[in-house]
Amino acid sequence: MENYEYILETEHVQKSFGELEVLKDISLKVKKGEVICIIGPSGAGKSTFLRSLNQLEKITGGKIFVKGDLFLHRENDKTVEKLDRKKRQELLLEMGMCFQRFNLFPHKTVLENVMLAPVEVKKADKDTIKKEALDLLAKVGLAEKADEYPNRLSGGQQQRVAIARALAMKPEIMLFDEPTSALDPELVGDVLNVMKELAAEGMTMLCVTHEMGFAREVADRVLFMADGIIMEEGTPEEIFEHPKKERTINFLKSVLKQ
Ligand SMILES: Nc1ncnc2c1ncn2[C@@H]1O[C@H](COP(=O)(O)OP(=O)(O)O)[C@@H](O)[C@H]1O
Ligand SMILES: [Mg+2]
Repeated sequence: MENYEYILETEHVQKSFGELEVLKDISLKVKKGEVICIIGPSGAGKSTFLRSLNQLEKITGGKIFVKGDLFLHRENDKTVEKLDRKKRQELLLEMGMCFQRFNLFPHKTVLENVMLAPVEVKKADKDTIKKEALDLLAKVGLAEKADEYPNRLSGGQQQRVAIARALAMKPEIMLFDEPTSALDPELVGDVLNVMKELAAEGMTMLCVTHEMGFAREVADRVLFMADGIIMEEGTPEEIFEHPKKERTINFLKSVLKQ
């Protein structure tokens, strides 16, 4: 049994860039295995929120808990409390992230890209890491591309490599920031299928997405973010069939008629 109730929790998270308040007050509790889709207009702060969880942005206020530990507490842009460095590193490795742009190393093969982080960080023996990397490539449907270089792959294939690369660190939580929005439409399905499979296997996932069909089918909970807050949240049915807030209704109208 795990000794925490929520694998990830934020309390009153705020983030400003100078005068610009991007996250106003985000409180969220995520259970292990939960799949949360975050939707909302451009500029809502969705990317900033994911980046804040992963410490790519430093929050200006609020608390972040990971697996029950108070990871970081900041107020007025000052750190009140944080975990020690070693524990922080350990918990950060529990969060894998996959971005819109995949940023694979062009001079390394697909297999090398997937093996890179585990070799550097995990210090496990190379044969084990290689076997695991090949298994992951098989899982994302790219076993035969192991020795290929990224620029010889389609965008959808590169994104699946990026997912395999994140999974190679065996994260307990995956953060996806619009992983399909830079892809040609015909390549989106394969990436979403990999994500669906991960969800079915019980991965805890936070996915910022424009794919309403995916959110409807896979999410346990959908968050509608706008203006730096979670304006509305609920089950896919609640959000897509019976949205309550005018803002949500208008957003859904605008994206669903495209
Ligand atoms: N590094 C940054 N410096 C200044 N402003 C930023 C930075 N990153 C994001 N922003 C601003 O924060 C707001 C929210 O951005 P973002 O989190 O990317 O929204 P979303 O992902 O919902 O489209 C935008 O107004 C954006 O311009
Ligand atoms: Mg974004």
